[in-house]
Amino acid sequence: MAVRDSASLLVGLVVLLHTWRAWAAVEVNMKDKVEVNLGEKAQIPCLYTSDDGIGGLTIEWFYEKGLGVKKRFFQQAGLMKTVDNSTHFTERISVNHSNNTMMLTIRDVKLEDQLDYICAVKGLTDGSGEGRTKLRVFVKPEPPTIEGVQNGISVNEEVTSLVGSCEVKNGYPRPNITWYKDNMPLRINKNEVEVESTVTTQSSGLFSVKSELKKKIVKEDKDALFYCEVTYFVAGSTMMSETRQINVNVLYPSTAVKIWVESPKGKIKEGDSIELHCKGDGNNPSSLFLIKYLKGNANWENDTVLLENVTRQNSGVYECISTNTENFEDISNNTEVFVNYLDPAVVMPNNVMVMAKGNELKATCNALSSLQTKTAWFKNGQEVSEGHTLILKNVTFDTAGVYKCVVTVPEIEGMTTSSSLRVHVEGQPEIMETPLTVIETFDKTVELVCDVRGYPAPTITWIVSDGMVPDSDNHMTTTDYGTKSVVMVDVTSNATAVCNASNEHGTDMRTFNIKAKTIIQTTTPAITTISSVTVTNTTTADITTNYSTTVTNTTTADITTNYSTTVINTTTAVITTNYSTTAATASPPKTIKKESNGFIIAVLIVCVLLLAILGSVLYFLYKKGKICGRAGKQDLTREKSSKDNIVVEMKSDNTEEAILLGVNGEKQPPNDQ
Ligand SMILES: *[C@@H]1O[C@H](CO)[C@@H](O)[C@H](O)[C@H]1NC(C)=O
Ligand SMILES: *[C@@H]1O[C@H](CO)[C@@H](O)[C@H](O)[C@H]1NC(C)=O
Repeated sequence: MAVRDSASLLVGLVVLLHTWRAWAAVEVNMKDKVEVNLGEKAQIPCLYTSDDGIGGLTIEWFYEKGLGVKKRFFQQAGLMKTVDNSTHFTERISVNHSNNTMMLTIRDVKLEDQLDYICAVKGLTDGSGEGRTKLRVFVKPEPPTIEGVQNGISVNEEVTSLVGSCEVKNGYPRPNITWYKDNMPLRINKNEVEVESTVTTQSSGLFSVKSELKKKIVKEDKDALFYCEVTYFVAGSTMMSETRQINVNVLYPSTAVKIWVESPKGKIKEGDSIELHCKGDGNNPSSLFLIKYLKGNANWENDTVLLENVTRQNSGVYECISTNTENFEDISNNTEVFVNYLDPAVVMPNNVMVMAKGNELKATCNALSSLQTKTAWFKNGQEVSEGHTLILKNVTFDTAGVYKCVVTVPEIEGMTTSSSLRVHVEGQPEIMETPLTVIETFDKTVELVCDVRGYPAPTITWIVSDGMVPDSDNHMTTTDYGTKSVVMVDVTSNATAVCNASNEHGTDMRTFNIKAKTIIQTTTPAITTISSVTVTNTTTADITTNYSTTVTNTTTADITTNYSTTVINTTTAVITTNYSTTAATASPPKTIKKESNGFIIAVLIVCVLLLAILGSVLYFLYKKGKICGRAGKQDLTREKSSKDNIVVEMKSDNTEEAILLGVNGEKQPPNDQ
């Protein structure tokens, strides 16, 4: 009975409750969460249904921090809005109402706005309801940085070594760091790859993460690129960014070593400086190098050696030994060095040979070398023979002189040696051709040269006439072929100088005639005279005279005279004269005649006088023009140009055919012919 009563009571309560829910019609709908980036605007909608109009509703907004700490920050009762002033975001929020939606807007979202937001709606008759939204705030971290270790890491390290560290600062929520090697994420593996992360929380609530990569370094890591990838959340998605790539200075020991001659390139010769280099294929700077010269028992504790001014004694095997200082293992290699040589040239049988004329000379020249050589003989810079033997048949004075033999090694530039052979040919002195044996001079001293060949070297003496003495005693010099003497002689009058050259085989002499000249001869005699002048055999003569003049065999003569002039065998003569001129020319020379103003004026006066007399007497006779026509026309032309010298070109046959030339020399057609 009691059970039945209780059961029916329970059923009644359930039915009552159910019925109450049915007419208690306030319903609130909210999103579970809203995501927003720092600084942006967050909008949290609160959707309600109620039979009561807004006037009959009380809507409240709360935020909840942690569990149970609930604070109201907004209330709307009917049309009355109240914002609680005491919250941290009072001035950044607004609540708007439209169509059964209350919209909470938070501007410039801060990290501390990340809270639960509760919207509670209470109706006058409808009952009440509430909803809740989590606001999630995201902060994008700063770009990540990476730092590689500076010093080298040896592959011989037994534990993991720090490779580098990455850091990402000020993100929310916490960003993650992943290490990559050559675009592949590194897998954590104890004693091989280890990553250690430290997270720090700023007072602002932001996270900074630092991650260190430790790795057991192998030789292959020398070319590897390491970097970090950072993943972080933003509103609505996951983002990632990468650091730059770093590489590791991997130190690895050599497995092989090489030794070589760095310089000179190519074959080595005595006198060169040799640079030996030794290098291993490893890069561990703590390796030790030793270069050894096995034959000479010499050592250098270095990876390079400079051997200066080497000789053939430096030839031999050089060894390089590289020692790994971590495990004291040695590796070595060697190279053979060969220093080529060329000994001084030796002339056989002798360096000086005295030959009798007509004999044959045979000499050889040799130089010992490690390489093929080439020999040639030179005299006065000219090659006279190829090969190491010099044969001169039937020797003469021309054969005498210095023969230089040059031995070269064609394979190596600059490798050469030489020696010389002096050949004397015995015989009596021969004075060589002298350009001048007749010397005409205005100077007070003359230089005399006597160049003599013969062997033994002739002695030269000078015999100079009356009082002129050679200036010095040591006038002789020995030449390749004999003796040469140069003396200065004071000239006082015409004299002779004799060069006397003698040796045990005989004597030769040469006479020099010295003519002392006192008058300076020029090619252009300029003669002004009042007496007669005769000019013979000169190039150019310029003569002004008041008396008769004869010019013979002269190239050009310019004569101004008041008296008779004779020009014979002269190429060109310009004559200004008041009197008769005879030009007896040889063929083909031309004579140019110049007529003076005086002559023209005289002719003009005579003509004018004649015209005046004839004009007055025969005034009306019309034939007057015919009588004087030719002369008048000519005179007019002459008068016109009388200021300039009229040049008359005379033909060599001396006929009257004369061509009038213009002042500037151009030909004008003769106006009366
Ligand atoms: C970081 O790693 C943790 C643990 O693996 C993970 O739960 C979280 O989602 C990661 N965060 C990001 C931004 O990827
Ligand atoms: C030339 O010199 C030689 C030797 O000095 C001498 O014997 C000879 O008499 C000289 N001749 C003349 C012409 O002086």
